[in-house]
This record gives sequence, structure tokens and C-alpha cells, in this order.
Amino acid sequence: MTSDATSAAPVSAPVNDWAGDYDIFDPQYIADPYGIWAELRQTCPMAHTDRWGGSWLPTRYADVYAIAHDIEKFPSGNGISVVPLIDMPDGAPAPSPLLTAGIPPISADPPLHTWTRRLVLPTMSPARVAEYEVYTRALCRRLAVDIRERGEGDAAAEYAQQIPVRVIGHILGVPEDMSDTFTEWVRDILEFANDPDRRRRGITGLLAFVQEAIAERQADPKDDFITELLQSEHDGEPTGVDVVMGMCALLLIAGIDTTWSSIGSTMWHLATHPGDRHRLVANPDLMPTAVEEFLRAYAPVTMARRVMEDTEYNGCPIKAGERVLMNFPGANRDPEVFPDADTVILDREHNRHLAFGSGIHRCAGSNLARMELRVSIEEWLAAMPEFEVTDPAKVTWAGGQVRGPRTVPVRIG
Ligand code: HEM
Repeated sequence: MTSDATSAAPVSAPVNDWAGDYDIFDPQYIADPYGIWAELRQTCPMAHTDRWGGSWLPTRYADVYAIAHDIEKFPSGNGISVVPLIDMPDGAPAPSPLLTAGIPPISADPPLHTWTRRLVLPTMSPARVAEYEVYTRALCRRLAVDIRERGEGDAAAEYAQQIPVRVIGHILGVPEDMSDTFTEWVRDILEFANDPDRRRRGITGLLAFVQEAIAERQADPKDDFITELLQSEHDGEPTGVDVVMGMCALLLIAGIDTTWSSIGSTMWHLATHPGDRHRLVANPDLMPTAVEEFLRAYAPVTMARRVMEDTEYNGCPIKAGERVLMNFPGANRDPEVFPDADTVILDREHNRHLAFGSGIHRCAGSNLARMELRVSIEEWLAAMPEFEVTDPAKVTWAGGQVRGPRTVPVRIG
């Protein structure tokens, strides 16, 4: 397995000391972080680095959980990404004057967090998600049948990557022919920390698109979520356009890379673990626990919290301006909580994983994400119960704050 050379361009020096100088964009961390976490959990459960403005990396479940719940000390309002999402690199002007509210609710603390989260939740309710399942299933079936007919394909790029962008586009009212452009923008934003030009291209492209979509619906309301947001109110006042802008940008960013990474990791696992694949094909009743287990074992998302005053956690002195990385993926591999944590156990009984975070920012799209993951597995296995990776050396992973495979070439059996 190799790391994606383009997305993790090692501009920074290679890491020799994971406890005192880690780098989540290091190719080694992207390719295989599990051993690094296991070692740190034993020797230095809160690792530190001066890179990227300084941050701390907890690796134990209890610490990640406690920090996620301490929103006074570890707020989200000072930035949630390791490389700033919205501040433009190199002093370039802000991408849009409309993004003054950030990308709530994820980048907000209460009270802005509370009411913007409430605006998102109904769209992601189980009943609404059941409606989106019809579209999602037809899409997955079409993609899977196409790969089967060719006898080989890329389970990450030609399957996983194609699904969430279309599903969230369908919900927001984004045309399907924009899917590839969207995918590029989101990758630019999330995966290319070392490439300011790509980051700038991604965020400006995405925001210009959202801005135009909002203007269109202000002039001519449609039956979609952007219009719903524009027509919503808070405290008797219409929701500001800056908030609508930030929320749409968030749904696109949060809904695409994350889910495609989970689907891709699951496809990679099933291609490389025939025992699990055969078991799941023979016992579809295992699907609910299997989905949770794939989410646990290959959790893609590491968000950040940034402190603005010197503080302390469990004896670690956190300096003003430093970040704490919400290592949800590392917490999910903690053997104190998950026996045999590095093994995927399709019927794992106790699985209170943190793939969707915990506390007030817990993923607002988890119903949708679970449905997309389940349906994508079901449709792939229905079309292709037998498949394998053609060449393990060609598998690539992208990482940083969202980790998942970007190339998984497979041959259909
Ligand atoms: C497997 C797929 C997904 C994973 C692993 C995931 C993971 C996460 C995590 C860990 C958080 C918490 C971040 C934090 O604590 O700072 C989060 C928040 C969020 N996610 Fe997801 N997510 C996924 C899919 C989605 C989808 C499909 C959507 C919707 C389109 C979505 C929308 C959101 C939103 C709106 C928040 C912010 C919630 C808040 O701040 O109250 N996510 N997600």
C-alpha cells in the first residue's frame, strides 16, 4: 500500500520522532497510522508537534472523548482545520465576503452552533434519508454493473468517489454534471495542505458556485435544501445569507470526502479480506454490525480544536494558538475499549465508536452516511461477490484530516 504522492507532497521534513514532532500529512502516517497510534498510546498518549502552528494528538479513547465534550476549554469557533480552511494562504484576500459566519454548525460554538445545527437535522432525519435511499441504490447499482461488465475497475475512484457527491448534490439541488468538478474542489480543500494554490482553487470554486446557487434561488425559489435554508428563520428574522452560504459549503465539504473515504476503505477491506467478504455475502443479517465496524476500524475524520489562551490538559501545557486534534480514528483503535481493536469483527457486539465524533458536534449527517455505506456495500456485493485487488502496490491512500483510499484497482472474479 502506498500513500498518494500528489496529495501528501512531503514538503515538510520526514518525521523521526512521532511523540514530539508528528505530522499528520506525513506519507507514513497517511499510509499506516495504526502502528504509530499503538506505540504512542503506550509511550506518550498526548503527542505534540510544532509543525503547522503547533498541535497535540491524543490517541486514547478516554482523552478524545473528554476533550470533545469540554467545549468551554476546547471550542470549535477558533478553527477546526490544521491548515486554515477559510483564511487564505499567503495573505490572499478572503474567498468571499459572504463567508463571515464560517461554516456552521461545525465551525461554531453556541449559540450560533445550536440553531444552525437545528436547521440541518430535519434534512438528515431517518425518514428523509429513507427517501434518498431510492436514488442512492439506483446510482450504486448503475456504477457497480458498469464495473462488472468491464471485468475490472477502480473501487475507490470509479465507485466510492462517485456516490456521496451525487447524493448530496441531489439533496442540495446541484446538477449531476458538476459532480467531478465538486469532487476536485473538495479534494483541493481537504487533501492538499502543502499546496496553497490548489487549496485556493478549491475554496474559491466551491464558494463561487454556492454564491451563484443562492442568488438563483433568491430570484426563483426551488424545491431544494438551499431554498429551504433561505426561507428559514431564527428569532423571527430570516437566516442571514452568510449563514446559508457557510452551511451549504459545509454540507458539500463534510458530505463528500468523508463518506467516500469510508466507502472506499470498506471496499479495500472486502477486496483484501475474502473471509469477511464471504461471511457478509452469506449472512446479510450481519450488515448493521458490519457497517458500524467498518466505520470504527476505518474512521476517516480528524477535526481540530484551537485554544486561544494557555491552558492545560492532563498535565500537557497547551499554548495559546495551538490545536488539539480530535483523533477519532485513533480512539477507535484503543484496545482498552475495543478488544482486538486492530481486527475487523463483523459482528462486534459493543461498538461505541467515535467515527462520527461525540458531544455537541456529533455528525449531523450520520443517518445519511450510514445509509450510503450500507447501500454501496449491498449493491457492490450483489453485483460482484468475488473481487480482488489486482496489484497492492497500486493502492493509494490520501490523508491528513480525512483519510481514505483514492485508488483501489480490482479484478472481478
Ligand atoms: C462516513 C461519513 C462521515 C463521517 C465519518 C463523518 C464524521 C464527522 C465527524 C467526526 C464530525 C464531528 C466533527 C467535530 O467534532 O468537530 C462531523 C460533523 C458533521 N458532519 Fe459528518 N461525517 C460523515 C458524513 C457526513 C455527511 C454525509 C454529512 C451531510 C451531508 C455530514 C455532515 C456533518 C455536519 C453538518 C457536521 C457538523 C455537526 C455539528 O457541528 O453540530 N457528515 N462529521
